Amino acid sequence: MCGIIGFCGYLDAKEELIEGLSELEYRGYDSAGIACFTKEGIRIVKAVGKVEGLRNKLPVNMESGCGIGHTRWATHGEVSEVNAHPHQCGRVTLIHNGIIENYHELEKELEKTGRSPKSKTDTEIAAMLLDSLYTGDVLEALREAVKRLDGAYAFCIMFSDKPDEIYCIRKGSPLVCCVSQDGSVVASDMVALLRYSKEYFVLPEFMVAKVTKKTILVTDLEGNLITPNILSVHWDMSAAKKNGFKHYMLKEIHEQPEAIARTLAPRIKKDKYMLPDFSKDGIDDAVFAHTTRIIVAACGTAMHAGMLGKILMERILRIPVSVEIASEFRYSDPIFTEDTLVIVVSQSGETADTLAALRLAKEKGIKTLSIVNVKGSSIARESDYVLYTHAGPEIAVASTKAYTAQLAAFYLLTFRFAYVTGRLNEKEVSDYMEELSKTGMLMEQMLDQKDRVRELSKRLTPARDLFFIGRSLDYALSCEGSIKLKEITYIHSEAYAAGELKHGTLSLITGGVPVIALATQGDVFSKMISNVKEVRARGAMVILLIKEDNQTLLEEEIFDEKFLLPAGNDLFAPFSAIVILQLLAYYTSCYRGLDVDQPRNLAKSVTVE
Ligand code: M6R
Repeated sequence: MCGIIGFCGYLDAKEELIEGLSELEYRGYDSAGIACFTKEGIRIVKAVGKVEGLRNKLPVNMESGCGIGHTRWATHGEVSEVNAHPHQCGRVTLIHNGIIENYHELEKELEKTGRSPKSKTDTEIAAMLLDSLYTGDVLEALREAVKRLDGAYAFCIMFSDKPDEIYCIRKGSPLVCCVSQDGSVVASDMVALLRYSKEYFVLPEFMVAKVTKKTILVTDLEGNLITPNILSVHWDMSAAKKNGFKHYMLKEIHEQPEAIARTLAPRIKKDKYMLPDFSKDGIDDAVFAHTTRIIVAACGTAMHAGMLGKILMERILRIPVSVEIASEFRYSDPIFTEDTLVIVVSQSGETADTLAALRLAKEKGIKTLSIVNVKGSSIARESDYVLYTHAGPEIAVASTKAYTAQLAAFYLLTFRFAYVTGRLNEKEVSDYMEELSKTGMLMEQMLDQKDRVRELSKRLTPARDLFFIGRSLDYALSCEGSIKLKEITYIHSEAYAAGELKHGTLSLITGGVPVIALATQGDVFSKMISNVKEVRARGAMVILLIKEDNQTLLEEEIFDEKFLLPAGNDLFAPFSAIVILQLLAYYTSCYRGLDVDQPRNLAKSVTVE
């Protein structure tokens, strides 16, 4: 959601802020703004729309070495220049990511002090509150403000009587910091720091960062010095660039074989047998040995990875696994048993509902394990155990490589679990691991079919409605195919367990409606084919995905288009099938002339409820 950048150093601050905001564009936003200390005091420039529009509005004479910048994703108040950040009240100018839940109540109180907001935002109320508390002592004002503010926040604050200093504090929402030769930088995520340094730290909650040219001083609210934990990333700027691809999404689809290899490699122990090994992740076998029930909590695509993980785990481990939408889970008064393991899944590690689900489980004393991509993120830090996917930065809003890396993580966990609990012996685990390690290759083969997918996408471009159907693993995969397509093409799309169609949805299948049918699972193949015949009998345009080794089972041409997936164990078919679904969504969005990487209304990381 909102993007935050603060720069204090030896370069032109406005240029650095604009660059930083461009790097944060992928988070999703509708307006942008910056504020800089200049000789004439603090100057603010804001614009509705893209960062490029803001750049064009900047006065050339806005000389400064220190400032803050923001991309806003509207929550309170419409998209407008006045609602865009930074917000200023008296001596306080600030930007904010999060939601101040008690802003209405605070506003009423602050009105009594003669302060009234110009905008409709919760953020301006926070600026008003801070201004009312500020008498020249920053820590004192922040100490009081923290007591009064409910909700989630990451703030970067400039006080007009403290030139060339930025103060930051956060609760819930992320904020990372680094110091480099060019100056000190803070941002809502690491992607905007990469230009300066590969080393960074996450500002601990309720600690204050005082950002100056040379250093970032971290203290608690009493002023005691804190030494933050320095983290480093192994990828460089090129990992977060398009590298010749037209869109980040296409690049990230292509990066999947490599991403999966990075998820698997550190966890493969090769001896006589190939076994998964989590010793470097600090995940003890006792975690598996004492688990009799698993709950997976996540949102969106990460939740779809969990749906697939459930089928896999139940099939192999024979223990009950439930998958919960994180935003529902937190309010459902869930039932935990002592031997439950809660697995939370999140690319960003910052999704507010997933984080809340994790905290709920922890509060109840339940063991938690997270599957996370972003290092040092809140979910990773707060879980008892973390399995990093190491997929590298994912910039497109539509998640692709993060999803397949999450799947790979579920397979790894399942095989280790099965080994520890004796469900599978060394040889069986090793055989599965051999196949898992070849999934990257399968994906490469599917990428070779991209021209065919592109051609086919032309036929989907005019569709108004579209359906994905499948059974078992293919149903879980259909859900992922469907969200991918709808989020970037704006075509209404639904995923159905194929057997459910007759119970209502079949009424929507009429002449020419595209149905993407996944039939990769041998045990339900004939049932699935019957469902395909049912939709075809009603005139649907059927796109069928089947494995090469099942082709001969097809007695008749029941499809308009067919994609053949490599032969092999059905359990691993999702890795090849998903590539086709991702490419279909991608090319259809391109043909519809849409913003593939930044679809309307969506944010990369949903850091508010
Ligand atoms: O960062 P997370 O994995 O927690 O994000 C969860 C969802 O917001 C995310 O997967 C979303 O559904 C994607 N845009 C789908 O492509």
